[in-house]
Amino acid sequence: MPVPAGLPETFYCTEKIDFSKDVDASNLKGKSVVVTGGANGLGAGSVKAFAEAGAYVTILDINEEQGNAVSHTLNAAGHHVQFTKTDMTSFSSQTAGFKSALSFAPSKSIDIVLASAGLSGTSIKTWVDNLPTSQPDAEPELPTTVVIDVNLMGVYYTAHLALFYFKQTATSGDAASKQLILISSLAGYVTLSNVADYNASKYGVRGFWRAIRQSRQILGPDTPPFRTNLIAPTFMRTNMTTDVEPALTAMGIEFGAVEDVVAGIMRVACDESIYGRTVAIAAGKEAPGDRNWDLCDDWEGLDGGRDTLGGITDGRIRGLELCGLGNYGRDNPFREMARK
Ligand SMILES: NC(=O)c1ccc[n+]([C@@H]2O[C@H](COP(=O)([O-])OP(=O)(O)OC[C@H]3O[C@@H](n4cnc5c(N)ncnc54)[C@H](O)[C@@H]3O)[C@@H](O)[C@H]2O)c1
Repeated sequence: MPVPAGLPETFYCTEKIDFSKDVDASNLKGKSVVVTGGANGLGAGSVKAFAEAGAYVTILDINEEQGNAVSHTLNAAGHHVQFTKTDMTSFSSQTAGFKSALSFAPSKSIDIVLASAGLSGTSIKTWVDNLPTSQPDAEPELPTTVVIDVNLMGVYYTAHLALFYFKQTATSGDAASKQLILISSLAGYVTLSNVADYNASKYGVRGFWRAIRQSRQILGPDTPPFRTNLIAPTFMRTNMTTDVEPALTAMGIEFGAVEDVVAGIMRVACDESIYGRTVAIAAGKEAPGDRNWDLCDDWEGLDGGRDTLGGITDGRIRGLELCGLGNYGRDNPFREMARK
């Protein structure tokens, strides 16, 4: 679509992703990659893909047992992976994690950061149901903010540290750009009725990302332009969704595999021409990632609205309309989720 009269050429942000292009992972060899949340699920799948492409990967995660298990398995296969126990909610813990990544890779740099650590949400109904308002002298208690702390503040710290170490280690001789890959969700585009903390965190990550994605020369005028892309999966089969999967499957909602998301992450990681784009991810049909698409989260795509609705109406993101988009009824599978 041509840029409307009177508006700058940059109006439509960047070129839409061409999913027909092959993904060439050869340029990941020797790269220094940080994966938060890399002990499980989408993060662990990505760690494997980066490591198999020859990158030096540092897993930052709070789950020591799983983090060590993933790194041991991949190192036994001849790859280069380390695990550093890290709490996303602590800036000093994340800083120590980034420092360990810096010294791990022979390049003594940090080139790619994937922010995958996250928690599932809680139901606003459960909050309200549990308020002790029937007692006349009841006082409001501080609610837990852990989902916002990990999913939004944790990503904020990760992005800050990524930019710090990208800037510190970027040189004019770099062949490839430094890149930050953030994981939001389709719940950063549609309502997940009741799950307010998760919904807020994912819209928040998306908002943060939108604000930085055009800052191509943020690392300095002479370095390859900075790249950042956003990943927005629907429902994927991981530990995060184990509890809700039976109810959602019964409603006809399809669950994708970790490999569907890894395909989207590898595409943006490897293709230097992709920046400022959102990859939406639904369950693959024939091959992992064959129902990944560009959400056009820009003016041309009505801030992702056009291609989100397209995905709902043609069934790629089947089911989100059942649990979101204003469904506050008894069949909402997220009515009773709770977290202490
Ligand atoms: N699974 C899905 O359906 C789905 C859909 C859309 C978006 N996402 C997002 O993808 C990302 C990865 O989710 P997943 O499905 O792989 O979940 P997962 O539970 O399998 O993995 C999340 C990882 O984050 C780690 N983590 C949690 N809190 C932490 C903390 N305080 N410090 C350090 N690490 C911490 C966990 O230990 C775990 O290894 C999350 O941001 C999630 O919101 C998932």
